[in-house]
Amino acid sequence: MISPTKIIHLGSIDQVPVGQGRCFIIDGEEIAVFRSRDGHVFAVENRCPHRGGPLAEGVMGDGKVVCPLHGHKFDLATGQGGEKPECVRIFSVIIDNGEIKIDGRDLAKPQPRSMVRS
Ligand code: FES
Repeated sequence: MISPTKIIHLGSIDQVPVGQGRCFIIDGEEIAVFRSRDGHVFAVENRCPHRGGPLAEGVMGDGKVVCPLHGHKFDLATGQGGEKPECVRIFSVIIDNGEIKIDGRDLAKPQPRSMVRS
C-alpha cells in the first residue's frame, strides 16, 4: 500500500524519451509517465479504462495519448477520455533536478473511473 504522504522518486527524466511514455511500477500499480516535446511531464494510470490497454505504449501528441489497442484518446492533463464517460487517473508530477517525483497523496486518492464494457 502506498503511503499517502510519500513522495515517490522514479529516477532520472532521461528514462523517458521526449515525445514518448514509459511505464513505472509503484507498489504494484502501473503509472505511465509521458514527456512532451514542449517540456511538460504527465503521469496517468497505465491501464486504459476501455479494455486495459497499456497507455505508456500509446502515441502521444497535443497533450493526449492514444491507446495502442483501440485508439481511444485521453487528455494527459485532465485524464478525460474522448469517449465519455471514460477517464484515467492523473497524478501530480514534480521534476526536481532532473528527477521525476510523484506525489503519493494522488496515488492514495480515489478518483472517478468509468469502465465501458462492450
Ligand atoms: S483498451 Fe484502450 S481503447 Fe480499447
